[in-house]
Amino acid sequence: MRDDSPSSPSDPTRRDFLLTTGGPAAAVVMAGWAPARANSAAGQSDSPAAIADGPNIAGAVPITLRINGKDRQLRVDPRTTLLDCIRETVALTGTKKGCDHGQCGACTVHVNGRRVNSCLSLAVMHDGEEITTIEGLGTPDALHPMQAAFVACDGYQCGYCTSGQIMSAVALLKERCGPDDAAVKELMSGNICRCGAYANIVAAIQQVRKTK
Ligand code: FES
Repeated sequence: MRDDSPSSPSDPTRRDFLLTTGGPAAAVVMAGWAPARANSAAGQSDSPAAIADGPNIAGAVPITLRINGKDRQLRVDPRTTLLDCIRETVALTGTKKGCDHGQCGACTVHVNGRRVNSCLSLAVMHDGEEITTIEGLGTPDALHPMQAAFVACDGYQCGYCTSGQIMSAVALLKERCGPDDAAVKELMSGNICRCGAYANIVAAIQQVRKTK
């Protein structure tokens, strides 16, 4: 029988069923359900992918990120940025989304010890790598020296850019940088502060550099 042939109430077609139960929604639910069933049928329910955190969406891939010293087994859409993975999947919201276009630096984290704009990087590119976010730098009771210097020098106002500023500043300590303020400003130029706390931010960084 053709798919579009008339049908009687007692003989509903598949199309009738989808139309009456919300076709698109049903299709989405089924797409998310099918892989889990496939894994279960194959006896893989205890695989890393099956126990990983993350939405059960079609096409999601398993990855492991070592975040702040802890291995996190995750399932992510291959299109997910590292920033969205950190904030939405792992729920570490200290890293901020500003422009989402690599222009403000609010999303700065460390990948294997080097600073990265996490909004410009895909999470799947970092499978097996070491990620450090602001939550992994210090604690309220034991601040990282750079965090303490930002407090002492009043290097923040609204605070939105602060985690990215501090992550950049900590990475800068291990980079080649001249001794004067101009050199620090140059290396921090990728981190924008909409409040204009730049002078105090530079003072905080220089304070920490003098103790090194
Ligand atoms: S949010 Fe990544 S650079 Fe602005």
